[in-house]
Amino acid sequence: MWYNIGMKILAIESSCDETAAAVIEDGVKILSNVVVSQVDIFAKYGGVIPEVAARSHLEAILPVVEKALEDAGLTKEEIDAIAVTHTPGLMGSLLIGTLTARMLAILWGKPLYATHHLKSHIYANWLSTGEAPEFPLLSLVISGGHTQIIYMREHNNFEIIGTTRDDAIGECFDKVAKILGLPYPGGPSIAKAALEGDASRYKLPHPKVEGLDFSFSGLKTAVLRAVQAELGLPITTPSYELKEHLSEQQRADFAASFQATACDILIDKLKMAVLAHPEAKTLVFAGGVSANQVLREKALKTLQNGPDGVFRKVYFPAPRLAGDNGAMVGAAAYFEVISGVEPTDPYALSIAPRTAIG
Ligand code: KG4
Ligand code: ZN
Repeated sequence: MWYNIGMKILAIESSCDETAAAVIEDGVKILSNVVVSQVDIFAKYGGVIPEVAARSHLEAILPVVEKALEDAGLTKEEIDAIAVTHTPGLMGSLLIGTLTARMLAILWGKPLYATHHLKSHIYANWLSTGEAPEFPLLSLVISGGHTQIIYMREHNNFEIIGTTRDDAIGECFDKVAKILGLPYPGGPSIAKAALEGDASRYKLPHPKVEGLDFSFSGLKTAVLRAVQAELGLPITTPSYELKEHLSEQQRADFAASFQATACDILIDKLKMAVLAHPEAKTLVFAGGVSANQVLREKALKTLQNGPDGVFRKVYFPAPRLAGDNGAMVGAAAYFEVISGVEPTDPYALSIAPRTAIG
């Protein structure tokens, strides 16, 4: 069911290292989507430096917003509302996006919607397909900062039924890439290296976590120990020294073995969630890690005709909408509007590094 009210939302996203703005009509139609990534800056450091990210956002944010309006062919008068990510994320990064959104809302006299970043990742799926995922649904949110299974009964209604107890899956990809000497961000570089590798070469353990929760710090350590053992080096060898000793084939085999294990762990938990919530009609992947092709193939193969033999459609965001972008923020804000959420007071908007979706 679509609500065609012609609502055009200018949405801003700056929670990590992408400066992004988009204009979205009625939650599903992308009029523009501008993303300026800072990955090139951070590739050489092997991770994001928060202070540098905030400064880069500051330089990019106004040109990015102007470009989003220009690409949409709209003037500020034609924008109905402003949306922005206000949590979770890096404080300095969030601050630049929210200050910009607050300023525009005040100057232009538009309502302001402050959205949760994970909500936006889930709603990227409404932008990606001609059809909407049916409720109730189970969403696997897998990003650089989060790994959660979220149950949605209806729009803008979220219950966290599983979460990581330590590292997030994206963080684990990034840390394993660093051990293997592959560039940041680790997800895409592991996926690329794995293309030449044998996924069954190294046996890596599945964590023993009860229920629907996850744990990824053990998997990262297991890769570290396996690399040390393969190279015949003591466990006291610092992780940053290992990459020099790995051959291209060993690197590719480790990348493929790790990727396969990580994907299997995620899918096994989602299977358990399906058995705990057999009434769920669809499965929705969300977040940067959901761009992973091996994960997509495994998910379609094992989850579509689920562990209970029931067909459930599996949704993935379009690859360009899996990572951080403004379009998903505009979609999330629109579904807040139609769910009756009131706009935020721009003078009172606050940011937070970690807040549960709700
Ligand atoms: O959702 P996202 O763009 O930002 C956060 O909200 O954190 O996710 C970023 C994470 C990074 O850890 C990155 O390595 C991972 O998503 N990622 C991937 C792939 N593309 C990005 N992980 C696995 N496979 C990929 N193809
Ligand atoms: Zn994200």
